[in-house]
Amino acid sequence: MAPDITAKKGVEPIVSLTSYHAHTAAIADAYCDFLLVGDSLGMVMHGYETTVPVPLDLMIMHGRAVVRGARRALVVVDMPFGTYEESPSVAFRNAAKVMKETDCGAVKIEGGRRMSETIRFLVDRGIPVMAHIGLTPQSINVLGGFKAQGQTAHQWAAIEEDARLVAAAGAFAVVLEAIAAPLASQITAAIPIPTIGIGAGCGCDGQILVMEDMLGLSPRVPKFVKEFGSVGAVIEGAIRSYAGEVRAGTFPAPEHTYAMKPADVPQAANPSRVTKKTKTATS
Ligand code: KIV
Repeated sequence: MAPDITAKKGVEPIVSLTSYHAHTAAIADAYCDFLLVGDSLGMVMHGYETTVPVPLDLMIMHGRAVVRGARRALVVVDMPFGTYEESPSVAFRNAAKVMKETDCGAVKIEGGRRMSETIRFLVDRGIPVMAHIGLTPQSINVLGGFKAQGQTAHQWAAIEEDARLVAAAGAFAVVLEAIAAPLASQITAAIPIPTIGIGAGCGCDGQILVMEDMLGLSPRVPKFVKEFGSVGAVIEGAIRSYAGEVRAGTFPAPEHTYAMKPADVPQAANPSRVTKKTKTATS
């Protein structure tokens, strides 16, 4: 549950990844403290250029899948753009819908100072909130691009203030995205809740990456991603072999094929009967 994540601050590093499906959730569950159903799924899985178009129903659909796959890790679902900024009560209505329909353990919203009133409103009404500051991708059209934050000293005070305000409002943890590493370390020391870094250096209380990025499945990745695997190449190799064997007629082999039941083996060649029986056996 969300308080277990907060309790890890200063005790042990917090490990997390995004997950969008039941099968990856089931694998990551054993290794991660929480799984984030990030709205990055709009870009990673659905081909959008940004996270701005992602609808609430899509988050709920993927949230349900991840909750089904996870056994012990906390599942946090991102609130997509346009579902929480208007007012605390709109945020509550949509966040409650996400919690009820997915059975997740918390939601995440982007924004510091400007969202602190909403965070307090949700937490007071039973919804654990993870905050997200620094580079907030839903504000891409205002920020002017996926740009690192806090690389000049004059930006530091506002970003640190964002962190203090979301912590004071009751967020159980805060994502620091693409923030200059010394600032992320300073924030981590300054606030009582865990900081979860993505492109924010090693001074945070925990780390998160987009799973497809760290697996080597994404065509382009930001500078802060380390590829821990080459899953894209593995998938391509498997598909290439499959296509080659189908074209060469070597797949399916006898061991992938259903035989007739002995009593039914046709006495003489009867292709139409064999086809019918084979279809029945596989359906
Ligand atoms: O949507 C997402 O995947 C995120 C992570 C980058 C933290 O918000």
